[in-house]
Amino acid sequence: MCQKEFKTKTIYYRITTRKSATRVLIIMANNQNPYGAVIAPVHHSSSYGFPTFDEMRRYAKGELPDEFFYSRYANPTVAEAERAIAALEGAEDCVVVSSGSAATFCALAALCEAGDEIILPDSVYGGTLKIAAHFFPRYGVTARFIGIDDIPNLPEIVTERSKVFWFESPANPLNRLVDLTMAAEAARTAGVFSIIDNTFASPALQQPIKFGVNGVMHSATKYLGGHTDLTAGAIAGSREFVGQVRAVASRIGATLDPAAAYLLLRGMKTLNVRAQAACANARRVAEFLQAHEKVARVYYPGLADNPDYALAQKQMPDGCGGIVAFDLRGGEAEAERFFDALRLIRNAPSLGGVESLASYPLYSSHFGFTDEQLRAAGISAATVRLAIGIEPIEDLTADLAQALGQI
Ligand SMILES: Cc1ncc(COP(=O)(O)O)c(C=O)c1O
Repeated sequence: MCQKEFKTKTIYYRITTRKSATRVLIIMANNQNPYGAVIAPVHHSSSYGFPTFDEMRRYAKGELPDEFFYSRYANPTVAEAERAIAALEGAEDCVVVSSGSAATFCALAALCEAGDEIILPDSVYGGTLKIAAHFFPRYGVTARFIGIDDIPNLPEIVTERSKVFWFESPANPLNRLVDLTMAAEAARTAGVFSIIDNTFASPALQQPIKFGVNGVMHSATKYLGGHTDLTAGAIAGSREFVGQVRAVASRIGATLDPAAAYLLLRGMKTLNVRAQAACANARRVAEFLQAHEKVARVYYPGLADNPDYALAQKQMPDGCGGIVAFDLRGGEAEAERFFDALRLIRNAPSLGGVESLASYPLYSSHFGFTDEQLRAAGISAATVRLAIGIEPIEDLTADLAQALGQI
């Protein structure tokens, strides 16, 4: 059967309300599926046959860029997920890979060569820090960490070796925000390529390309997938940049499996409603914790007394995300009692699923950090990170109340 008969073309619309351009809904208007199927089939095939020798020759010469050849290079189901994320982020193109960490590696490998330097604020996901500071130096690419408040000074901080400025907003795990317009402008003036890890916000709440940021990375394992049942990553940006990242990803085989791509596509259909529900719950949880005697401090930019509140209103008007971090009064012993008393909220890593999870950065994302790195990131033995899901809010606050009561 000629592959063209099975080729699907899905059109993604970004529906924007008058209130906000960030209320994004994807409609998959697919009228070319076999049998008129509303949902595109999952293409598990790892290999694609050519109907004629001439088509093979033209494909090899790059004259048939939309054809498929081998799923490590491109796969129709994975390509659907890429089109959807590009549409959500307002990007020209997107490449989807096997995890967020693979996306980080491929993007940095695409942009840097021996002798180059990556600049990052102290507050980034621990795995990103380890890739940049422990892995790339083996190949002559070094990492330099700056304070999150030093970002406006990037033009003075960079050297001729600096290539990439990588940052997060909200940043893991304490939800510090970076002014996206300022960061994009500072990086542009400094002559470095800016990339944001947009995992915490998701494109339902923040589309950084609109603010001038060059590239967007996602751990699609989180809000994009949304159901804690897949591992995936994505890089979105200009066609040229994404093409460079795609070349690394297909060469090293960081490819996403089509079954995971299908789950990702299914999850993304409800991204907007999940994000809104998680934001509403997170705000209520943050308010609840702030009023609790066993809690020393709450980190949520939607709280009026948070230092990033005004910025949050400006660049995340639809909500500040589902992550709430807080410091308990006490340290590891109090944290142990709290975690072991939780009943509904699971003690588990990750975030962005429909269920609420609690994690302890000291023994998860930031395990193995030096005291100095922990201090710079603002993390102590009292710090707890909650990834709030979409459960009834009363159930969440009841679980937190009883667990805090055990301390
Ligand atoms: C903010 C952030 N970026 C990147 C990653 C890495 O993503 P993955 O676990 O999909 O490799 C994570 C994982 O927790 C994360 O929280």
